[in-house]
Amino acid sequence: MAGRAHVSIAAAALMLIGAIGVGAQSSAPQDKPKAAGSGWTIPADAEAEKNPLAADASAVPAGRQLFKSNCQRCHGPGGKGDGPDADPDNEQDMDLTNPKRAARNPDGVVFYKVWNGRQKPKMPAFKDKLTKDQVWHIVSFVQTLRQPSSSLVAGRSSLVVNQRNFTTSSPIK
Ligand code: HEC
Repeated sequence: MAGRAHVSIAAAALMLIGAIGVGAQSSAPQDKPKAAGSGWTIPADAEAEKNPLAADASAVPAGRQLFKSNCQRCHGPGGKGDGPDADPDNEQDMDLTNPKRAARNPDGVVFYKVWNGRQKPKMPAFKDKLTKDQVWHIVSFVQTLRQPSSSLVAGRSSLVVNQRNFTTSSPIK
């Protein structure tokens, strides 16, 4: 038990350092496009693109409905990557609640992931199915799923994620 608590504290410290590191990096003036070589098609200036619905309180509930009908079958009801059509091998990459990805996925990046989709592992492109406005609604909702890494409470939930990784030793992407 004592050993485990020790590991938890170490994990929390790592998370904090990680969060600070990522924050500092993303404010650097000439960032490379994030998704280069990752399978996603993300324009270089996507990161700077703002969600036009950011201040719209009704965007999140509307986005939740759109998520249910378009995304839940793969990403699962809570966005954990455990929907009926999910491939268990990709569950970690499909986990939209992973706090480690929050800093790397500002609104514009999430928008283009959904808009353009990807080949392998396959996520459909939604540009033929949804309007830009609908996708921005979904972005508003999806960003509420990511557990923030900057508060004390979130620090604790990050711990859980870290412990899981310690036991499975599978990398978080
Ligand atoms: C057919 C299954 C499928 C559907 C439907 C689907 N996705 Fe995905 N999605 C995936 C897979 C597989 C990945 C992981 C790709 C990888 O390896 O990085 C993924 C990854 C993502 C990611 C990147 C992971 C992250 O944390 O940023 C986002 C964002 C995302 N999906 C959002 C959505 C949204 C929003 C919808 C609905 C509009 C949706 N997806 C519908 C299969 C799906």
